[in-house]
Amino acid sequence: MKTVRFGVIGLGLMGREFGSAAARWCHLTGMNVRPEIVAVCDVNSDLLRWFEANFPTIALATTDYRELLALETVDAVYCAVPHNLHERLYTDIIAAGKHLMGEKPFGIDKPANDAIMRCVAEHPGVFVRCTSHFPFFPPMQRLGRMIEDRAFGQIIEVNAGFLHASDLDPDKPINWKRMVEINGEYGCMGDLGMHPCHVPFRAGWWPRTVRAVLSNIMKHRPDKQGNLVPCNTWDNATLLCDAVDPATGEPFPMTLRMQRVSPGDTDTWYFEVKGTRGAGRWSATNPRRLDLLEYSGGEQAWQRIDMGWQPAFPGITGGIFEFGFTDAVQQLWAAFLYELTEGKPKSRFAGCVTPEEVAYSHRLFTAALRSHAEGTTETV
Ligand SMILES: NC(=O)c1ccc[n+]([C@@H]2O[C@H](COP(=O)([O-])OP(=O)(O)OC[C@H]3O[C@@H](n4cnc5c(N)ncnc54)[C@H](O)[C@@H]3O)[C@@H](O)[C@H]2O)c1
Repeated sequence: MKTVRFGVIGLGLMGREFGSAAARWCHLTGMNVRPEIVAVCDVNSDLLRWFEANFPTIALATTDYRELLALETVDAVYCAVPHNLHERLYTDIIAAGKHLMGEKPFGIDKPANDAIMRCVAEHPGVFVRCTSHFPFFPPMQRLGRMIEDRAFGQIIEVNAGFLHASDLDPDKPINWKRMVEINGEYGCMGDLGMHPCHVPFRAGWWPRTVRAVLSNIMKHRPDKQGNLVPCNTWDNATLLCDAVDPATGEPFPMTLRMQRVSPGDTDTWYFEVKGTRGAGRWSATNPRRLDLLEYSGGEQAWQRIDMGWQPAFPGITGGIFEFGFTDAVQQLWAAFLYELTEGKPKSRFAGCVTPEEVAYSHRLFTAALRSHAEGTTETV
């Protein structure tokens, strides 16, 4: 078993999810590679304790990421920090020769992403990927295989989105994800946007044009002291895109929705594809349920399939049991390590977001900002 030694920078919500996934690596069977966390970094030193208490392999716990990058024992870095820091930290990580799993949006805006992409190009020996875990749910893996097999015929329409209702509460205190200077002008697109783009982009359905409607619904929020302060980020984004299916050369409409104020939605990632030979849809609201419609003439009937624990990277869990968020996060890490060591993803839809895919999301979101500002349809 090969070991890839990791440093983790940013030990908040997502940093600890990686820690947990790495700690139960024995869950997976058939992997030839495993992660080992050897160094951690956060400017908030309180967050170092949980890692130090749970990972005896940690040799360095620091508040200065440059100390972590100076360690020769660190092969790869997971970096999960606020968006305004992506450009500086990601380029420093790559320049230090460490493989990088970075969080979306991979730069606070397009110039920041361009700088990261230049650094990626200058260091071809460094493996760089971006997170996105929903495609690893078993029903989405199945839909991915069907897209590869062109099971849906000519594509008629694709709808994908990521919807939260977490910001419906006007009394929710403001945090960095609601501040333009830290989260970025993209607002909800920077925070949520890469998630619904992952599967369409991997399918080759790159949006050519976009008409976007962006909404700032909650214009003020309380700060920590309870004073109302401006909240200038976009809460919701609805993008109508024109995409082309490379399999047929035919254009089709695609909607991408990223919303933080979507009543009733807790953490709803959804994907729907409609084609001339059938349709398929999945939503994180009902994570084991896959809806499929196969059409070969005659009656049209939706099938509802309850899928169990049948992921891309097998493990010890029985096939009838439920698959969840922490499983998807671990699958994401399995995909990163598999591709790092094997040189290619296990299958087309069992791969992490590539730098090229994330760069295209910046083109899309930048065009969406122009589209909303001008009321125009913009070329991506
Ligand atoms: N993939 C997903 O599903 C998902 C979900 C949530 C957030 N994210 C992304 O993860 C990233 C972090 O978000 P989060 O929710 O974990 O945020 P968070 O605020 O919970 O954690 C960020 C951490 O970074 C630390 N930090 C800030 N500056 C630092 C520095 N200079 N050096 C080291 N640490 C520093 C903070 O102290 C904090 O602990 C963002 O890019 C966000 O978009 C991804």
